[in-house]
Amino acid sequence: MCGIVGLIGENIKVIDLIEALEKLEYRGYDSAGIAFLKDGVIQLAKAKGKVKVLKDHLQSVLKEHTENGIAHTRWATHGEPNDINAHPHIDCTGKISVVHNGIIENFRSLKVRLQELGHNFVSETDTEIIPHLIEEYYNGDLLEAVRKTVLKLEGSYAIAVIHSDHPDVIIGARKGSPLVVGKGDSVVGLASDVTPLLKFMKDVIFLEDGEIALLRKNELRIFGTDGIEHNCKPVEITWSYEDAQKSGYKHFMLKEIFEEPSCIVSVLTGRIKDGRVVLQELEPFEVSLKELQTLKVVACGTSSHAALVFKYFLENMSDVTVDVDVSSEFRYKKPHIKPGSIMVAISQSGETADTLESVRLAKKYGAKIISVTNVLGSTLTRESDIVLYLNAGPEISVAATKSYVAQLVMLYLLAIKIIQSKESTGKRDFVDKLLRLPEVFENSLKGAESIHAIAKKYKDFKHFMYIGRGYGYPTALEGALKLKEISYIHATAYPAGELKHGPIAMLGPDFPVFSIIPYDSLFQKMKSNVIECKSRNAKILAVTNDENYELKELADDLIYVNTSDEQLYPVLMTPAIQLFAYFVADELGLDPDKPRNLAKSVTVE
Ligand code: F6R
Repeated sequence: MCGIVGLIGENIKVIDLIEALEKLEYRGYDSAGIAFLKDGVIQLAKAKGKVKVLKDHLQSVLKEHTENGIAHTRWATHGEPNDINAHPHIDCTGKISVVHNGIIENFRSLKVRLQELGHNFVSETDTEIIPHLIEEYYNGDLLEAVRKTVLKLEGSYAIAVIHSDHPDVIIGARKGSPLVVGKGDSVVGLASDVTPLLKFMKDVIFLEDGEIALLRKNELRIFGTDGIEHNCKPVEITWSYEDAQKSGYKHFMLKEIFEEPSCIVSVLTGRIKDGRVVLQELEPFEVSLKELQTLKVVACGTSSHAALVFKYFLENMSDVTVDVDVSSEFRYKKPHIKPGSIMVAISQSGETADTLESVRLAKKYGAKIISVTNVLGSTLTRESDIVLYLNAGPEISVAATKSYVAQLVMLYLLAIKIIQSKESTGKRDFVDKLLRLPEVFENSLKGAESIHAIAKKYKDFKHFMYIGRGYGYPTALEGALKLKEISYIHATAYPAGELKHGPIAMLGPDFPVFSIIPYDSLFQKMKSNVIECKSRNAKILAVTNDENYELKELADDLIYVNTSDEQLYPVLMTPAIQLFAYFVADELGLDPDKPRNLAKSVTVE
């Protein structure tokens, strides 16, 4: 949460820093700020609100050149979002400026100590102690002052520092919060993730915890906190600059939903051969998979819904028991992990604090970790034994869409891989279905316009109930989450059979029911539940592939998905719930890409 960026080079303009910041806005957008050098003096600008507010404020200087600059977009932790608490923060001399992502846990004691030494603080943030500490340690050598400072910090940080006496330098450092650094032809930069750097470079280095980077024009060096230089190998990024643009779509969320077919292709490419799932990454686990009896899965939010689909699928198709926990619960429970057992950790960002802590806990008890993530170099990838990459490209919109679809497909592959490790010829029919999935999936997006029309009809309701059974249940959970997070409408999800145990009491004409009701073995059961809702005068919205049109009489509005592959319903019905949520939010005049109070990478507990 919070995004930081720093750029240094001959031709850097203020607008470059602002545009870089826009790429990180998904990480937080309570306030934004920038510090850059002009004629040897730090120019500081900060504003409450989105980056756009800051950009408007800086209109007259956007085209100006600067030797270096740092910028920040904030998701507030300490201190309310306002101009004063916005980053960058400065020291007493006004020469040192710092942006920070993370939480400094010992900031109170450091602040008291610094106040005793005469430092004056203006904000309520934990971050403000950093420039003051650097000032204390500064003796002409900025790198050394930052090194001494980070040794005093407890908690998590990714920071970028500039000093007006060193116009050719930016210092970056990380512990617990992500930081990527890289050198392009004319720009050296750092950022919380690669997207702002794609315009300037292809090769980057993901800093490890405890590393400090020295950025100069045309020079990039990495050191440990002991001052010893590290020899780090850059990684080539396959994401392109265009991947991180809206490309004519009104919002990233819509663009990313329409990228789902190509994401499915990316996940499948090279991973199926002669009816068998090939996940070379898993080779070291071949024996363990063959003997696998139980599997622990941890994830948060949307990723936990993907975990649930994985559970339904693998348990239906094999004798393996899949135990799913939400990471924030798992990390505080007695873990029940045996040495040598396997945990699957699912996280789009690879930075979710609770999932990382769950992984650390499981490792302590001897588990091996398979992670499923989209972000190269993320913390999760570095703490896992095996990484299964989604290759879905950058997901900029805060709400997870294409990464969810990619996770589902990857988890089908993983499940089949586990089954085929036990019985080598197993599940070829299903593998064939996976191969046809990209083509079949295109149908799921064809109904976008009719879903838009339905969204217009329903946008003013204040409550929604989502229901499903079997594979439809995780989709119901995901549908409710998508709607509430981007439209702020109350939405709740239940397994349809649970309605009578309480929730049906809420239903009435003002409480529509969104039913996930594929024509499968549970169709008649679901139909009975829908009838029960209908008789409470609730409006019925249904996603179905019911070719007999049995639902036509019953439902007020039908979203038809053309498919007959029962196990693949969770993927094929997902665009319907995503598009519905998107269009409702857009019709309400909200920005689906940046829902209030949320950030994409939840790097704090
Ligand atoms: C919802 C959403 C969140 C994330 C959750 C976990 O649209 O995006 O619920 O799924 O914060 O994030 P990752 O997968 O990055 O661990």
